[in-house]
Parts: sequence; C-alpha cells; structure tokens
Amino acid sequence: MSHLIAPSLLAADFTNLGSEVEMINESLADWLHLDIMDGMFVPNISFGFPVVEAVRDICSKPLDVHLMIEKPERYLKRFRDAGASYLTVHYEACTHLHRTVSEIRSLGMKAGVSLNPHTPVMLLKDILPYVDMILIMTVNPGYGGQTFISGSLNKVGELRSMIDEEGYDVLIEVDGGVDTQNAPILVHTGVDVLVAGNTVFGAEDPVDTIRRLKALI
Ligand code: DX5
Ligand code: ZN
Repeated sequence: MSHLIAPSLLAADFTNLGSEVEMINESLADWLHLDIMDGMFVPNISFGFPVVEAVRDICSKPLDVHLMIEKPERYLKRFRDAGASYLTVHYEACTHLHRTVSEIRSLGMKAGVSLNPHTPVMLLKDILPYVDMILIMTVNPGYGGQTFISGSLNKVGELRSMIDEEGYDVLIEVDGGVDTQNAPILVHTGVDVLVAGNTVFGAEDPVDTIRRLKALI
C-alpha cells in the first residue's frame, strides 16, 4: 500500500474553514486529521462537536479524529455521530483500553491508539490484535508547529517489526513536526499515514505540498 496523507486541520485558517476544507477535497489528501484537545490531557483546548459536524458536512475525505482528552470513552458515540471514520484514543488516557477500542469498533469506526513520546511501543503488545492503527506522537501533543523528536524514528522501526512479525493488519501513523524533509525516511522506516499540519496549511501552495508529501519529492 502506498502511504496516506492526513493534513491536520489545527493549522488551518479558521476564518476560512469552508475554503480550507474545499482545498483538501480537491487535493491528493487521503484523510483529514482533526485534533480534539480538552485542556486536561494536554494543556491546550482546540475545538469540539460543532466544528467536527460542520467539517463532516462539507468534507469528501474520511475524518481521522485524534482525541487528546481524558476518559475518551465518554464520547465515542458522539464522535461517531459527528462523522469520525477513524477514532484514536491515547494509551495514557485509558484505564480500560481494550474495552474502549472494542467499543469504537462496535460503533462501526476504525480504532486507533496513540502513544506520547515517552511511552514505549512494547506496551502495545497485548492491544495490537484489537486495533486498526497506532499513532506515534512525534512531538508532545497539544500544539501544532513543534519540532519533530528524532528518537521517534526508532519507535516506528520497532513497531513496524512488532506488527510484521505477527502479521497484523495495523496502520502506523505519525503526528507532529512532519515535513517534506523527514517524510521520506519516515515512510521508508514503515509509516503508513503522515499527519501534517503547518507543513500543509502554512505552505504557499498547500495542494502542491500535499502532492509532494504523497510523491515523497
Ligand atoms: C499535536 C497534534 C497534531 C498537530 C500537528 O498535538 O496532534 O496533529 O496538528 O501539527 P504540525 O504538523 O504542525 O506539527
Ligand atoms: Zn493529531
């Protein structure tokens, strides 16, 4: 499978949300990544259901919703109804992770689990058979525009081996500080989905930047 591109709406111009989503619709982007922050799990607050629902109504690409919130199990059905295709929760935010990912799947969504930069991938061993995607945070979650943490590359390689050794059908996504410089090595190391916020929405030509991330040039 060729790798997928998921631009992160957090870096979009919110005074022109309609045209930003229209740009995504017309681009080679595979998904649209939506960052939900609660001011508790992460120090920042982003946006909630009204924005996700509005985006759902105009976006032609699947919505990849990344929950950076405490006790995400409270809101799974709400995010399904708001339009999420992929719903990712944080390993560090879930006491009963198996129950939560099972519920996400039974609601008809794909289930993702995200790891903060300090959380080792070996902790995923027992949950891998039950998920569709692992999101490796390559910055500390909470803000866009941060610098990629270079040690994350080892985590991608380690996780790639864990998945391939068992033959699991699990995507690897990376999020934070992804740009046209580090994208090739990330994909080469085993990443399936690149999230990119500022690299895409801060570019002079976002559509061409998405094309370059897709073609790795
Ligand atoms: C950070 C978010 C990211 C963010 C990425 O907590 O999860 O999705 O939007 O932004 P960039 O690509 O600008 O680092
Ligand atoms: Zn994200």
